[in-house]
Amino acid sequence: MSEVFIARKVPQEVEDFIGKHCRYTKWEGAGEISRSELLKRLWDVKGLLINQEKIDRELLAAAPKLKIVSNISVGYNNFVLEDMKARKVLGTNTPNVLNDTVADLIFGLMLSTARRLCELDRYVKDGQWNKKVTPELFGVDVHHQTLGIIGMGRIGNALAQRAKFGFNMNILYHNRSRNPEAEERFAAHYCSLEELLRKADFVVLLTPLTPQTVNFMGSKEFSLMKGSAVFISASRGETVDEVALEDALREGRIRGAGLDVYKKEPVNPDHPLLQFKNVVTLPHLGSATTSTRFAMAMLAAENLVRGMKGEIPPHLVPE
Ligand code: DGY
Repeated sequence: MSEVFIARKVPQEVEDFIGKHCRYTKWEGAGEISRSELLKRLWDVKGLLINQEKIDRELLAAAPKLKIVSNISVGYNNFVLEDMKARKVLGTNTPNVLNDTVADLIFGLMLSTARRLCELDRYVKDGQWNKKVTPELFGVDVHHQTLGIIGMGRIGNALAQRAKFGFNMNILYHNRSRNPEAEERFAAHYCSLEELLRKADFVVLLTPLTPQTVNFMGSKEFSLMKGSAVFISASRGETVDEVALEDALREGRIRGAGLDVYKKEPVNPDHPLLQFKNVVTLPHLGSATTSTRFAMAMLAAENLVRGMKGEIPPHLVPE
């Protein structure tokens, strides 16, 4: 009889921590657990540790004793909150511990799109570097440019810190509410979405996925961006209308894009967005360093154990 099911592979220390407080079983199969396998494992489970598996009415019906689901991620768009609320099942996430790591990766995307790092890496390795570098290989600066952050929360702050103090950038942001910390510490200027899109050299979309943010960036938004500007997508792929982005790139209406997330993941290698050389693509790994993924798994385990003890877990969602 298990009380907790660990559906994702986690470091041994994390498993040991859970084992000190709860009886548990875990997924031991090769690769990720399938939906059908997950549903079979839940009938006596009170606590569930997952990484973005969908928690909806179907899963809840297969888990009649479930009390808490702990997500090893900050995004929790996989939770169908009204279904969880109806069943009084708590959900938790792992904020803060990944802020700097994700902000580092976003900076990597900004630098690699602006300075064409991936394209030029291929240029050297393919043996094309057989003369002095001429202007057709030049990029654009990141330092002293204007960064527009859409969705100015914890990761936005970490990005703004790098932009302000490392790269002397001017920072604009658009958010549901003002972010006084960003305004005070990074001189970030709050503005309308339209103003941000019209002025920013780098537009970074960080908004969480909610029903209101599906296709947040569409043709109208891309058409407002400067022709010299770069678009970076780093929260959830569903926040971008990928066809509209593809059109903007094909027609040369923006300089390029850096993508860590896609509507469908893993993205299909034939996806049109992967065919542009001015688009840098990554496999959704914003938080993927060994230490940060460890910290996220440990935080998720702490949330789970606290919930299993009947306490209020520190990172209940919605926040
Ligand atoms: C998160 O934690 O939400 C990141 O996107 C990694 O999945």
